[in-house]
Amino acid sequence: MDYSKSLENKLKEIRNKDARKVKILAIETSCDETAAAVVRGGRKVLSSIVNSQIAIHSKYGGVVPEVASRQHGLVLSKVVDAALCEAGEEFDSIDAVAVTCGPGLVGALLVGVSYAKGIALAKSLPLLGVNHIEGHICSNYITHPRLKPPFLCLIVSGGHSHIVLVEGYDELKVLGRTRDDAAGEAFDKIGRLLGVPYPGGPNLEKLASRGDPDAYPFPRGMKNEQGYDLTFSGLKTAVINMLHKAREKGQKVNAADVAASFQAAVVETLVEKTFLALCKSGMDKLAVCGGVSANGALRDAVRRRAAETGAKVYFPAPEYCGDNAAMIGCAGHLMLLRGAVSGLDLDANPSLGLN
Ligand code: KG4
Ligand code: ZN
Repeated sequence: MDYSKSLENKLKEIRNKDARKVKILAIETSCDETAAAVVRGGRKVLSSIVNSQIAIHSKYGGVVPEVASRQHGLVLSKVVDAALCEAGEEFDSIDAVAVTCGPGLVGALLVGVSYAKGIALAKSLPLLGVNHIEGHICSNYITHPRLKPPFLCLIVSGGHSHIVLVEGYDELKVLGRTRDDAAGEAFDKIGRLLGVPYPGGPNLEKLASRGDPDAYPFPRGMKNEQGYDLTFSGLKTAVINMLHKAREKGQKVNAADVAASFQAAVVETLVEKTFLALCKSGMDKLAVCGGVSANGALRDAVRRRAAETGAKVYFPAPEYCGDNAAMIGCAGHLMLLRGAVSGLDLDANPSLGLN
């Protein structure tokens, strides 16, 4: 039987099934984590395996795209086998395959997309091409299974900083976005300047815990501008200039103070814009997600402001802040429910946007 005929039969079978029992194999290879998961009913994670490439890229001080793709190719099938095994499932007991198709590194994305297409074709399964940023939004559905739209979402990762109004599961309105660096990218770049190991975010946070956040009055991006867009380039330049001047004058700088002051500026910028959007949109729920949502200073500041405003806040569990495939499975399940099945001509789109 050809793929389209058997896919039709499979989709009929899925429609007749209790949605809570539908099992998705999800794959994520957009950057430097090779991840696979099995998710049941969209929100129950049966397994989630993340094979990080941090140790490989750290010697270069950042992700080397070609090395990342090669590594995904080397480990993906083992990671998928481990996810199926841990969930007690096999390819024949899975209902659909979800895969990140963008945004991300094109070579890295292609490894996951090609692999997922192969499984879909061989096992006559629906293929679901998931937007990585939508995946991050879903990380909060996994951690908080009762969370439902509408809510405001702050997405802060290595590649993206977005303030999004989630009006429905597939109704996303981008209110603001970064005009230059993403929040995580800024952490990584300043981390490198301060000599902390890659990835800069978590290591800079550690360094900052020993510093004074008021030591340097770094600028808060877009503070006096209307709208919800974000920028971190002025802040980055201010840190670089300060370090440069100190070096010229032979002055010693306390790296922990610089880290703490930089982190305080990023956190204040994110919190100000997010709560402005929350207040103006009339939302009473705020979800934060993406790699930077693991940051303790950001979590504390968001919780403090939320307590003042009466908003309810949601953060993903630590294992779902950074890249993982469970969030891709959750997003794929929502796509399957609304019939948004991808064709076998699905392509990787490195600059896929939210809308
Ligand atoms: O979501 P993610 O894993 O990948 C992307 O989609 O980009 O985010 C990775 C980013 C990196 O820039 C990393 O430095 C940052 O999240 N990050 C953090 C922390 N943990 C990870 N930034 C600040 N504080 C952290 N604790
Ligand atoms: Zn991500």
